[in-house]
Amino acid sequence: MKLIVTDALSAAAQAAELYEELLSRKPNAVLGLATGSTPLGLYARLRALYEAGRISFRDATSFNLDEYVGLPPTHDQSYRYFMEHNLFSHIDLPHERISVPSGLDTSADALAGYDAAIEAAGGIDLQLLGLGGNGHIGFNEPGTPFELGTHVVELTERTRRDNARFFTSIDEVPTHAATMGVKTVMHARAILLLAFGPAKAEAVRASFAGPVTPEVPASVLQLHPNVTVFCDEEAAKLL
Ligand code: GLP
Repeated sequence: MKLIVTDALSAAAQAAELYEELLSRKPNAVLGLATGSTPLGLYARLRALYEAGRISFRDATSFNLDEYVGLPPTHDQSYRYFMEHNLFSHIDLPHERISVPSGLDTSADALAGYDAAIEAAGGIDLQLLGLGGNGHIGFNEPGTPFELGTHVVELTERTRRDNARFFTSIDEVPTHAATMGVKTVMHARAILLLAFGPAKAEAVRASFAGPVTPEVPASVLQLHPNVTVFCDEEAAKLL
């Protein structure tokens, strides 16, 4: 694992260079994308690189990590809406090659179909991850078996509280989400995790300096052969 400690702005710029390098080497790369406040700086850099003509997503494909159950794509707190607003509507990634798990159809067929679609696209070349304050990746909460593919999870109280700031009240935060499983994430050829700020320090420590355990979902990344982690000083302070 490569751990790079730098400020959030420089992390976004360096992470964006990984996309520039990947897409110039493999224009039809398959990108695993993430939501949350953490990747916003990276998405801003990718938009800028695209506007400057240095990067194109024309031949790429994307799969997002997760979605709230019950929210339609038009809901302003759905992850599909987030992605449209922060990235998709600004770049040339063709809409027919964009996938976000459905928050409305969470049938067994739809969930298994998500992993099958990733496989059919050739597998994910670069999976982007944020980190939950409790060590979750995607919405794989502590205790989730590492063997699961895309599935529905019940969100922990902590996660709902952490994400309540985006809703009018905690009661409006969905109780469940559809998420790529740890197995799905671990199949990616390369993984890029970003973690910034003091609220992530304990999760960073437990994930990268503690034992590999489903109680800390991100700790599984210690077993992956190609992981790059960008942290700022505050997130790395307990390492
Ligand atoms: C959410 C998402 C995760 C994300 C995490 C951290 O729960 N499902 O994919 O990594 O929160 O969010 P933030 O980046 O806003 O701290």
